[in-house]
Amino acid sequence: MNILDKFHNWRRKQRWDRQYKNGRWNSLKNPIEASRYHTIKDFIITYGKDQPSILDLGSGEGVLNEYLELNSYDYFLGMDFSKVSIEKAKTKKFPNSDFITADIHSYTPKRKYDVIIFNEAFYYVQESEKENVLNRFLSYLEDNGILIVSIYREGSTCWEYFNNLLQLNHKVVTTNQEKTYWKIGVYKK
Ligand SMILES: C[S@@+](CC[C@H](N)C(=O)[O-])C[C@H]1O[C@@H](n2cnc3c(N)ncnc32)[C@H](O)[C@@H]1O
Repeated sequence: MNILDKFHNWRRKQRWDRQYKNGRWNSLKNPIEASRYHTIKDFIITYGKDQPSILDLGSGEGVLNEYLELNSYDYFLGMDFSKVSIEKAKTKKFPNSDFITADIHSYTPKRKYDVIIFNEAFYYVQESEKENVLNRFLSYLEDNGILIVSIYREGSTCWEYFNNLLQLNHKVVTTNQEKTYWKIGVYKK
């Protein structure tokens, strides 16, 4: 990242922290969001191995965990650059789970995972870093592992990065509001 991108990224992090502090992202727990989390959960169950290890990139306060059955995964690591969101996630004390503060642009996992998820996070990766970031995390995906990507509406300059992967499924998750929908894909290397 050049110095200007680094500055923008730092400013964004401050904004996310402020927004998590003032409750702006409590909206992720609204019922309208539920079908998105359910689809991700279904993809994990259908295409992932039993009791997978899961890496959730840009996990925020761990809303996805609230949808996963207890003991349905071997290990869950949520990471997010917003310290405030990670502190909130930690208070929930999810079983077999850790949450760490780290930046997607620079974070290097300490192990491989069966499931890696960009749940409403990939479009925050700096344009110049998208390919590097995706390749870095793919190198930490187990050979039979799956990558799940959820993107709000069309997500300009996002989907093309996943074209070289084997697509197992791709769904448009609609709601009763015409402009509120997500596209969710599941891939193998
Ligand atoms: C729309 S929220 C989605 C949160 C969570 N994935 C969910 O769906 O419940 C996007 C998240 O990405 C995180 N994020 C944005 N840029 C990031 C970066 N460079 N590194 C790590 N996390 C980032 C934000 O802090 C925020 O928690």
